[in-house]
Amino acid sequence: MTDLDTTDASDLREQFERDGFVVLPDFVDPSACDALKARANELVAGFEPDATVRSIFSTNEQTRTTDDYFLGSGDDIRFFFEEEAFGPDGELNQPLELSINKFGHAQHDLDPVFDSFSRSPELADVADRLGFGGHVLVQSMYIFKQPHIGGEVTCHNDHTFIWTDPVSCIGLWFAIEDATIDNGCLWALPGGHRIPVKQRFRREGTGTGFEVFDDTPYPTEGLVSLEATKGTVIVLDGRLPHLSGANRSDHSRHAYTLHVVDPAADYPADNWLQRPDLPLRGFRG
Ligand code: FE2
Repeated sequence: MTDLDTTDASDLREQFERDGFVVLPDFVDPSACDALKARANELVAGFEPDATVRSIFSTNEQTRTTDDYFLGSGDDIRFFFEEEAFGPDGELNQPLELSINKFGHAQHDLDPVFDSFSRSPELADVADRLGFGGHVLVQSMYIFKQPHIGGEVTCHNDHTFIWTDPVSCIGLWFAIEDATIDNGCLWALPGGHRIPVKQRFRREGTGTGFEVFDDTPYPTEGLVSLEATKGTVIVLDGRLPHLSGANRSDHSRHAYTLHVVDPAADYPADNWLQRPDLPLRGFRG
């Protein structure tokens, strides 16, 4: 564990407010990472896809697949394929367990292993120190970034997808395996959380769309790679521009993410993520 007692809480918070992110290496014990990974693999082994659930997670946020399977995943655990998982014949090019891009979006509430990983006393303590200890956990994703076919995630911020008024979304990104430039680590724009939000992703009729406020791209100059060893947690301001590259290496890059919001903020009914059947819970259950 990172010895946070030696890190002045105000320094940590100052860094978070200045850069829009903080990186805490050795935050999670490697054995806890291994246990989460084993559970993720068990869940995938129990997944029996049929044609209707071959829902591909498009890694280009502009063309994200938005079928019913995706839109109904807010209070369930559902599986999404890598875009490059299938051959021209529509069959998988590799075993199922090496074809899944991610699963989500409520394992932190529905699965006991994910629940306890997501609500450790250490995490609640960091949330307190950074000023969001009272937030509730709205979304989780286990991301595989599979060898060779792991898709890129283009530059975005999370508030675009998990909108609240006022802005309150915070992302927690856990390295379950070592993340390197080679296998598709995160990149972020320090201070970029001060750039006005450019778009909002929302439900429109039976589908989804972007409400665009500013169609200029984020600057690429100044992006920094956030290589992370297994057990690192990265805390991201919801407005911070970030991305990850494709994985063309032989090694997977498993990561687990949580998104949390202030329960006192307005959560619009047309946010894509809805949890009609699940009450919201915080870091301490
Ligand atoms: Fe993100």
